[in-house]
Amino acid sequence: MTQSSSAQSPARVAVVTGAGSGIGAAVARRLGKRGYRVILGGRTPGNLSEVAAEIRALGGQAEAVTADVTLASDVERLMQAAGPELDVLVHSAGQGHCLTIDELDEEEFRTTLDVAVTGAFLTTKAALPALRASTRGAGHVIQVCSLASGGTWYKEVGYGVAKGAQLKFALHLAEQFKQDASAGGRTIYVHGICPGTVDTPFWARVPQRTIDPQLCLRADEVAWLIEGVLDQPLATAEDFAAQKPRPEIVVKRHAPFERWSNVIAIAHESHP
Ligand SMILES: NC(=O)c1ccc[n+]([C@@H]2O[C@H](COP(=O)([O-])OP(=O)(O)OC[C@H]3O[C@@H](n4cnc5c(N)ncnc54)[C@H](OP(=O)(O)O)[C@@H]3O)[C@@H](O)[C@H]2O)c1
Repeated sequence: MTQSSSAQSPARVAVVTGAGSGIGAAVARRLGKRGYRVILGGRTPGNLSEVAAEIRALGGQAEAVTADVTLASDVERLMQAAGPELDVLVHSAGQGHCLTIDELDEEEFRTTLDVAVTGAFLTTKAALPALRASTRGAGHVIQVCSLASGGTWYKEVGYGVAKGAQLKFALHLAEQFKQDASAGGRTIYVHGICPGTVDTPFWARVPQRTIDPQLCLRADEVAWLIEGVLDQPLATAEDFAAQKPRPEIVVKRHAPFERWSNVIAIAHESHP
């Protein structure tokens, strides 16, 4: 393909949930810079518009769509904004807490599961027709999971269950997409990215724990890994560890999911 014909080809399209802040915003910025048309989903319109405006100010294409990922009708609107062909879905919307079962109430338990797991299901299901329709190379579904997806901390009986289920969702989906591809369908890669503590607004609603930003990942470092798996979908945690953006970061397979190379953990070295 010549340079001029590639410049004229339609931009790849990405939908990013939780794109108004933190990891989702960092991913949206990176994809915007890479020439993707980025559809940003979340519940707070002001945050989404701000990130979309930043992307456009740098010459990128971005659209903000106010959408709650736990509501099918909102998710449909989000996917409609992407149009008939989609290349990347990043599900970063989420919420967390550090609570024992004695401290955790039903509403917090249900909402945490709903945004992580029902949100993963609804967004992927609604995205599938457009993900399958695009002919612009391989498609991608990225689930922003957590070290809590595989870990067992006594204050994560709610969050850990939610993020564990979100990761299992990614693994089952990946198996289906392999079947689909071997039957002639589009290759769609699925990754579960499992960060340790990241310095983001996530912690503003978790008064039970104070984070030290010096001992955290930065949102853009998680976005770096996500951009990396889009570029190198078959690369392993070991490959990314060799490219990590600063020495204090650890990139590795995530126990007990080590046998799946599409599950990659990233954390500050101080994370237990
Ligand atoms: N920060 C960490 O230490 C850490 C570590 C491991 C994994 N993670 C995971 O990383 C992901 C991103 O978190 P973050 O650290 O970037 O925190 P964040 O800045 O709080 O981002 C989470 C985003 O999700 C959106 N959101 C929450 N509920 C939603 C819903 N029902 N529908 C649509 N959007 C919703 C929030 O925006 P609105 O409130 O405006 O909707 C927010 O922009 C989460 O899945 C989290 O579990 C975070």
